[in-house]
Amino acid sequence: MKIAVDGPAGAGKSTIARLLAKHLGLRYLDTGAMYRAITLEALRREVDTGDEEALMKVATSVDLNIVFQGDKGNLIYLNGEDVTNSIREPEVTAHVSAVSSHKKLRDFIVALQEQIAKQGSVVMDGRDIGTVVMPDADWKFFLQATVEERARRRQSELERRGVSLDAGELREQIRRRDHLDSTRENSPLRKADDAIEVDTTSLSVAEVVQKLLDLIKGDDEDVHVCGNNS
Ligand code: CDP
Repeated sequence: MKIAVDGPAGAGKSTIARLLAKHLGLRYLDTGAMYRAITLEALRREVDTGDEEALMKVATSVDLNIVFQGDKGNLIYLNGEDVTNSIREPEVTAHVSAVSSHKKLRDFIVALQEQIAKQGSVVMDGRDIGTVVMPDADWKFFLQATVEERARRRQSELERRGVSLDAGELREQIRRRDHLDSTRENSPLRKADDAIEVDTTSLSVAEVVQKLLDLIKGDDEDVHVCGNNS
């Protein structure tokens, strides 16, 4: 079974996709982590995030290793170093949308993701999973939430890791990233026509996971399948 979970920043994709994978006994791939790892290395090498060729050199010269850890998600190794936490630092977040906008880089990373999809059942979360990486997925979910709620969630996530950022500043960052991700030329953030949109604004993590499991098991009638209310 292949399941695509897409949506904007902070809609809860990674948490939901990981738990869904756990409940269904499937592998889970956080595709954003791949773009983040390349961004981290580019920043370390002081590469201009607008320079596609230089970014391709970074992408093709690093050793990127993703370890599937059962229900704990993915561990990300960059040239042998565990960067699972460092790729979530605000500096990486601030530059990742610029890095991920380049076509050649996306083609390179999407090819790796397609290989993982070919190896068998998987839940993948990202921006273009239902539209580009796994257009043939059995289930496509598009998670939404208001910008205010997404900023609030991101703030608590950062606080848990000891990083404190102003809520207004976070809202602005999220708006900026949404804008860049959804207006870029190459595979922009977009709900696939056959994806099921779920508004998670007033739902807990457990409620969203249950809702998706119910949909997969076929006993939820309250579904928004068509149209685009993003
Ligand atoms: O978790 P969060 O929503 O903050 O972001 P992420 O899933 O870690 O993705 C970080 C960035 O990578 C996004 O803002 C996109 O620019 C890019 N990305 C993408 O272009 N395509 C994907 N499939 C996944 C992420």
